[in-house]
Amino acid sequence: MTFQAPKGTFDWMPPRSEWALAVRDALAAPARRAGYGYVETPAFEDTALFARGVGESTDIVTKEMYTFTSRGGQSLTLRPEGTASVMRAVLEHGLYGGPLPIKLWYSGSYFRYERAQAGRYRHFSQVGAEALGAEDPALDAELIVLAMDGYASLGLSGVRLLLNSLGCKECRPAYRAALQDFLRGLDLDEATRNRIEINPLRVLDDKRPEVRAQLDGAPLVTDHLCGACKAYHEEVRGLLTAAGVAYEDDPRLVRGLDYYTRTTFEFLHDGLGAQSAVGGGGRYDGLSEQIGGPALPSVGWALGVDRTVLAMEAEGLLAERPGGVEVFAVPLGEEARRRVFPLVSELRRAGLAVDMAFGGRGVKGAMKAADRSGARYALILGDRDIEAGAVQVKDLTTADQTAVPLAEVVAFLKGKLS
Ligand code: HAM
Repeated sequence: MTFQAPKGTFDWMPPRSEWALAVRDALAAPARRAGYGYVETPAFEDTALFARGVGESTDIVTKEMYTFTSRGGQSLTLRPEGTASVMRAVLEHGLYGGPLPIKLWYSGSYFRYERAQAGRYRHFSQVGAEALGAEDPALDAELIVLAMDGYASLGLSGVRLLLNSLGCKECRPAYRAALQDFLRGLDLDEATRNRIEINPLRVLDDKRPEVRAQLDGAPLVTDHLCGACKAYHEEVRGLLTAAGVAYEDDPRLVRGLDYYTRTTFEFLHDGLGAQSAVGGGGRYDGLSEQIGGPALPSVGWALGVDRTVLAMEAEGLLAERPGGVEVFAVPLGEEARRRVFPLVSELRRAGLAVDMAFGGRGVKGAMKAADRSGARYALILGDRDIEAGAVQVKDLTTADQTAVPLAEVVAFLKGKLS
């Protein structure tokens, strides 16, 4: 019997897996430099944390959760996203009693039972950042700038930022009602008509051409914002411009989770086909209270690691291989192996990235392995070299070869590779 990774999942294998690591590091780096501390929460939570059961609902919560009953009879769910977990942790640990905002970043696996397709998986990876406990447009702008800086540091030039405001509990109800009035007058199927009553904003996001064609005159949220929301949004836009970050206003931008208020945004990449969002986020001023906490206005984002690697591939940025070794040792014979082994250990302790040929292959196979490793230098040791107390150092890019006394190899290679 053989096995395959479950539908909608895949393995990261070398050398491509190096890019997943590099992307994770690069997307987190700007947030870490801006004072965000690392948080790690469990991969599963009490189901009720995600299915809050009140108000609006989204596909992520109603159709896509991996929910199971534990042996103890408790309903648990594999996390579909990170924000609710981070909020739960902050409330559980009482961090809101200390200095605000609480700035946290995270990275890990998320699970959604989605229709699997290119760029849309059932198990995927995100890097996220959340700033909890402050209502300050500079915080919204900071997070957006940090995400854009992360993408830019990977060399990506095709990431676009869409920006919107969804209003607050003062102005959203009137907008929601106006939108419902408009939508009820359209020719829609029953499932969509039901959606009008539960989550009308979601209908704006319908991708079907026959629905899209009817949405042209739909009321826009930005025309219904209260004075405070309008001023807040203007401030965010001004700060982004001041920081040199370009954005596109998109009054139809609707997010796939129900907790958003005011600022919402999405990072798109046009090289990805239908699943073009490489990241997204926004403000969620009411989430804390929804799960039993005090008022804790907050904002954050999550960036998709898998899709960011795909975006880099679309821009031809995966050509150069990250990671790999600098030196590859090739012992010719058993005595040579006994001598090369401690040398390799010594080189690694000196901070160099070193591999060696294993499995007693012939010279040809070993040299092939050296080439494939991506190393700059091969260290070759044969019987004559042992007698001479030296090792052959071959530059694999120029094929130049020099004999270096064994006692000097570490210093020699350190000098060459620094
Ligand atoms: P989200 O928009 O659901 O937001 O996910 C963020 C990013 O995760 C997406 O833009 C996408 O790149 C990636 N992603 C989502 N689902 C999949 C999938 N099935 N396959 C591959 N990649 C996927 C959130 O998760 C919110 N927690 C963001 C947030 C943080 N809002 C406030 N704070």
